[in-house]
Amino acid sequence: HGTSTVNDLGHLEIGGVDVTKLQEQYGTPLYVYDVALIKERAYDFVQAFNKRNIKAQVAYASKAFSCVAMVQLAKELDLSLDVVSGGELHTALVAGFPVEKIHFHGNNKSYDEIDMAVEAGIGCFVVDNFFEIELLKQAAKKHNKVVSVLLRITPGVEAHTHEYISTGQEDSKFGFDLTTGQAEEAIQKVTDDESFQLLGLHCHIGSQIFETTGFTLAVEKIFSYLAEWKTKLNYVPRVLNLGGGFGIRYIEGDTPLPVSQYVDATIDAIEFQAEKLAIEIPEVWIEPGRSLVGDAGTTLYTVGSEKEIPEVRHYLSVDGGMTDNLRPALYQAEYEAVVANRCNETNQETYSIAGKCCESGDMLIWDIALPFAKPGDILAVFCTGAYGYSMANNYNRIPRPAVVFVENGESTLVVKRETYEDVVRLDLSLDGCEVK
Ligand code: LLP
Repeated sequence: HGTSTVNDLGHLEIGGVDVTKLQEQYGTPLYVYDVALIKERAYDFVQAFNKRNIKAQVAYASKAFSCVAMVQLAKELDLSLDVVSGGELHTALVAGFPVEKIHFHGNNKSYDEIDMAVEAGIGCFVVDNFFEIELLKQAAKKHNKVVSVLLRITPGVEAHTHEYISTGQEDSKFGFDLTTGQAEEAIQKVTDDESFQLLGLHCHIGSQIFETTGFTLAVEKIFSYLAEWKTKLNYVPRVLNLGGGFGIRYIEGDTPLPVSQYVDATIDAIEFQAEKLAIEIPEVWIEPGRSLVGDAGTTLYTVGSEKEIPEVRHYLSVDGGMTDNLRPALYQAEYEAVVANRCNETNQETYSIAGKCCESGDMLIWDIALPFAKPGDILAVFCTGAYGYSMANNYNRIPRPAVVFVENGESTLVVKRETYEDVVRLDLSLDGCEVK
């Protein structure tokens, strides 16, 4: 798994660091990121575009995992950055990310968020709706700036986890609808206004996708409208952003494609359509989140209590759960795990891994074969790098875990563990006064 190996002691090592050392030094639960693997994934995307000799931007969708160090790593890797809230934007600014490479998403950006982004001078807004056009115009006027925008459209192609379906009428909270003329109206509104520079169009068809068909269908759909807009509005996009959604392997049955296959299929479709329409090939932008950081993350837990119901189930509880990984409870997401300090022992028992929250649904993994585990053992759950820390919460007032980057045998703490003081930090006493 990534740069994970097993050492002579039978301990899992990530990035050359023994996880028992990480448990000792930082405690658990702990998110551990294999930095070399993030670099490799980023390189794969960039290379896939370089090979095609096409103008491109690979924007890291920071919703997958945002913290100052991660944004700084994205900067180092020369990626652009997709943010979806004032909080993610603030993180990017604090991290010193180049503002001109920040793209701002969201279906309900507030005026304050827009104002903050215009003032900062970010690269572009991915405009989602007519209300946002008005807010953005106000902010542009206030700062006396011309803002660059992509218009997010709903292409009527919806990718589900394993299949895609093509819907005539897209029912989604995001973007301008194609079929009812919203997209066309938005293009007119934005091109007619000196506050805006319309860079192009954006769409995002879904997440954890294992096929190229959804992407190529989206391209075809957009171009079928572009043909009309070219004649009618004299509009040709300079940029096409196809969003993210490239799948990763969480469990054995998952079959993601190599990154270059997604990229090649999409570029092929765009080149074919552009030639047909006799327009210049637009720049192609994408926004991978999960596929850049997902499999680089591993969560370490310490094993605690167990409960065996003979012939029924053997529960093994760990010191985290739905507070640090909401995905099993929210999406029935599946994960693989090992007892990380007993990697050389054979699997002898079928366990179900429970979290520590007061909630029956707080189960991380159902029925996994593992060696016999004892309290104090380390359970390592793989592929938790995307939407793990970023969706972590304080249910039951459980402090959020720390995050550690590992590379070349070294570990660096990049997010501190929350403390009980942090848990009550914003609380005031009954009379509204500070708590001592
Ligand atoms: N671009 C846009 C406009 C998006 O909405 C998303 C994800 C991405 C890019 C990045 O998608 P990715 O490459 O990571 O699949 N919390 C869910 C995933 C929600 C994804 C939302 N949008 C999960 O844990 O699976």
